[in-house]
Amino acid sequence: MKIGILGTGMVGNAIGTKLVQMGHQVTMGSRTAGSDAGKEWQKSTGGKGQIGTFADAAGFGEIIFDCTNGANSITALRQAGAANLRGRILIQVSNPLDFSKGMPPSLTVCNTDSLGEQIQREFPDTRVVKALNTMNCRVMVEPSLVPGDHQVIMCGNDAAAKAEVTKHLGAWFGWKPGNVIDLGDITGCRGMEMLLPLWMRLYGMYGDPTFNFQVVRGG
Ligand SMILES: NC(=O)c1ccc[n+]([C@@H]2O[C@H](COP(=O)([O-])OP(=O)(O)OC[C@H]3O[C@@H](n4cnc5c(N)ncnc54)[C@H](OP(=O)(O)O)[C@@H]3O)[C@@H](O)[C@H]2O)c1
Repeated sequence: MKIGILGTGMVGNAIGTKLVQMGHQVTMGSRTAGSDAGKEWQKSTGGKGQIGTFADAAGFGEIIFDCTNGANSITALRQAGAANLRGRILIQVSNPLDFSKGMPPSLTVCNTDSLGEQIQREFPDTRVVKALNTMNCRVMVEPSLVPGDHQVIMCGNDAAAKAEVTKHLGAWFGWKPGNVIDLGDITGCRGMEMLLPLWMRLYGMYGDPTFNFQVVRGG
């Protein structure tokens, strides 16, 4: 498959590398074509990965990952271009973390709105599916790093898009369908993003990001 990855940070790297290893065609996008981070990733894939601008990556992908800095995701997606995002599934991984006042970060948006909703409103013709944002990127692409059953949470307005993402999460990364929790429409992003302060606190406590949330039901 042709996959566009917006973002050259550790998340874009983890997802891009895994997909290239699986034989997919991946273009990783940056603010500028040929960024140092992009070139480094391309080199790490032995030249198999392709790099370009956010617009190049979005235009390339049959499916697109948003792995951009959350405080700047809307800007990055505008640079990717509404026309390139139209009709596409956007797996929206970024979190609205605000590090401007140091640690711990706060959220740029919360309670009655979320980054996922802001993006869906700004790009109404894009099939936004929020997923994978509640865990470290190594766990995203290799859930077996955490023993036992634990979950990937998703939400979005488009049921067919969510079904397709569920299929890909299984085929690409090994997420069992039974461990995918669909929270419903895009407003589910509020809770998914507001988990981040808890995630950050747990990370500080454990000193290692290799953990995940497990929902255990009694009824
Ligand atoms: N780290 C994790 O394991 C993890 C887990 C779950 C969710 N997340 C979320 O995933 C996202 C990516 O995290 P990350 O650590 O991989 O990368 P990051 O450093 O947060 O973001 C890197 C990307 O954001 C772009 N960017 C930065 N400032 C920008 C601006 N002003 N305008 C447009 N684009 C800008 C960069 O563009 P250039 O390429 O041009 O520099 C780069 O591609 C974040 O939202 C994070 O909260 C991270």
